[in-house]
Amino acid sequence: MAQTLDGKLVAQKVLAEVKAGVSALKDRTGTVPTLAAVLLGDFAPSKIYVANKKKMAAEAGIASRDFLYPEGLSQPDLLALLRRLNADPAIHGILLQLPLPQGCDEDEAIAAIAPEKDVDGFHPMNLGHLLAGAPTVLPCTPAGVMEILDHYGVELKGAEAVVVGRSRIVGKPLAQLLLARHATVTMCHTRTRDLAAHTLRAEVLCVAAGRPQVIKGEMVREGAVVVDVGINRLESGKLVGDVDFESASKRARAITPVPGGVGPMTVAMLMRNTLQAAKRQLQV
Ligand code: GUN
Repeated sequence: MAQTLDGKLVAQKVLAEVKAGVSALKDRTGTVPTLAAVLLGDFAPSKIYVANKKKMAAEAGIASRDFLYPEGLSQPDLLALLRRLNADPAIHGILLQLPLPQGCDEDEAIAAIAPEKDVDGFHPMNLGHLLAGAPTVLPCTPAGVMEILDHYGVELKGAEAVVVGRSRIVGKPLAQLLLARHATVTMCHTRTRDLAAHTLRAEVLCVAAGRPQVIKGEMVREGAVVVDVGINRLESGKLVGDVDFESASKRARAITPVPGGVGPMTVAMLMRNTLQAAKRQLQV
């Protein structure tokens, strides 16, 4: 049976570090790092994410300001809101929850966030730094995956790493982070011809396909480390990942569960990014 990679545990460790950093910053400058979350529409998973974020921010001592627009906003009004938040010195981080409702231009909205307040690392300038290998704010979920791998001492140098899914939020930045750590990285996606041929070679298999249980045990290399980024609710109400945990854990050496794997890490990394953004803006 595979070892369980406990994201909750690693997230608690990160959160404790952030909490100490927030407290030190407050003592030194009198400033409480403040995160603004902008949520348009009423997409249920987004509402859950923003609620989790609010809870973890409170735990870390970070202040939350939520800008909720269940009915949506026009693109000009959204851009005006982002400009207002950019200009507000009391706001250190801006989280624009994705996906935006239909009719909004996601690329334009992300580019309108001040790069120094972009705690998601999605601004083209920050993504450019990531591609260049320069220090920058890292997208939260991929950063969380790397934190789990590092916590458990998974060797990446020279390892065969396969990433399934090529999203802006997870797959693409995660591939860059693995590459920066000298893994040999293969990216698979919906048009990949023989998915299993690739996943079977993976010593480190990261799955962010957005499709429930697409990776079965027989697609996993014996002894692989499997990181399941997916979170899907089946009709039965059960939460499952993009990996079939039961069959995959018979072949993997180690695997993240769903829930309790990558999920808690994303929000913890968002807190770390918010603290870092506040420190940079306060020049401490
Ligand atoms: N939607 C799903 N994941 C994320 C995330 O990490 N950040 C933002 N802004 N939106 C998301």
